[in-house]
Amino acid sequence: MSARDQIQSIRDEFARSLASVQSSSQVDEIRTKFLGRKSPLTTVLRGVKDLPPDEKREIGKLANELRLEIEEKLSAVENTRGVKTPDAAHFDYTLPGRVRKVGRIHPITRTIQDICRIFFGMGFEVAVGPDIETDYYNFEALNIPKDHPARDMQDTFYVTDNVILRTHTSPVQIRTMESQQPPVRIIAPGKCYRNEAISARSNIVFHQVEGLYVDQGVTFADLKGVLSGFVKEYFGPDTKMKLRASFFPFTEPSAELDITCFRCGAKGCPLCKRTGWLEILGCGMVDPAVFEYVGYDSERYTGYAFGMGIERICMLKHRIDDIRRFYENDLRLLEQFL
Ligand code: DAH
Repeated sequence: MSARDQIQSIRDEFARSLASVQSSSQVDEIRTKFLGRKSPLTTVLRGVKDLPPDEKREIGKLANELRLEIEEKLSAVENTRGVKTPDAAHFDYTLPGRVRKVGRIHPITRTIQDICRIFFGMGFEVAVGPDIETDYYNFEALNIPKDHPARDMQDTFYVTDNVILRTHTSPVQIRTMESQQPPVRIIAPGKCYRNEAISARSNIVFHQVEGLYVDQGVTFADLKGVLSGFVKEYFGPDTKMKLRASFFPFTEPSAELDITCFRCGAKGCPLCKRTGWLEILGCGMVDPAVFEYVGYDSERYTGYAFGMGIERICMLKHRIDDIRRFYENDLRLLEQFL
């Protein structure tokens, strides 16, 4: 075979090898095979000096061009992460495709979004406050006295004597009222922390949504109207509610809101512990003592507040039986939410 034919056949063989490259280790093999010391091309190049003068120039040029061509093509393949896209002949169309999983919104985030959206529709705006709070905002300005059980080390995470992880979202009420004059109409979603034994019903980190409306002439009837609108929209139009007298240091009067069990239609089932009712939030009229702390004129303004546990609401609505499920990141749960 003439040197010229030899070069052509090396070029053809190289092209065939390159077409079937699947991995970067194969690229290395091909490099050794076509450019290594024992490769046919190296042999051709070595023989150039012995060729008759008229062929020396031509063959030398062709062989060097091929060497450059091979080097360039191999590094081009390597630059596309060493794997060449298989051509049609090598592509197995019957292989299953790679499924790209779509991310989901966490059920807790989703519940917060749904609740907030309903209150946006009723003119509320979002307010936020820090997770790490002072005793003043979390307790004192909310009229929670020094000897109140919630202040016990057993129930509250203390950072220092005076700094704690907030045990509820109610301190956002105080911060908002300090920074603006009435009318105030806010909801405040966020994380809360309590030093509790972890169980199916309670976790040390959980979420609440707080609500606050202060203006001239706000009454308990307004509170009832807003909560009734929320209940029907979130739990369904047939849901009934009742307000049960209760006590919170920062509201007077205080109440808890129960709704008819949407699972059994209030007939009585394990979810509602056979009572037909489910408790979903605490609420009341802002205690005038709280207005004194933030410098609002309690003769002039009245207001209502409410607070609900997000995990509880989400568990009720979606029949999740254990609060710890929200923090396990088990895809079988998470994938059920859009
Ligand atoms: N902060 C209370 C809790 O964590 C819930 C609550 C009750 C908030 C009544 C309120 C309210 O705003 O008016 O148990």
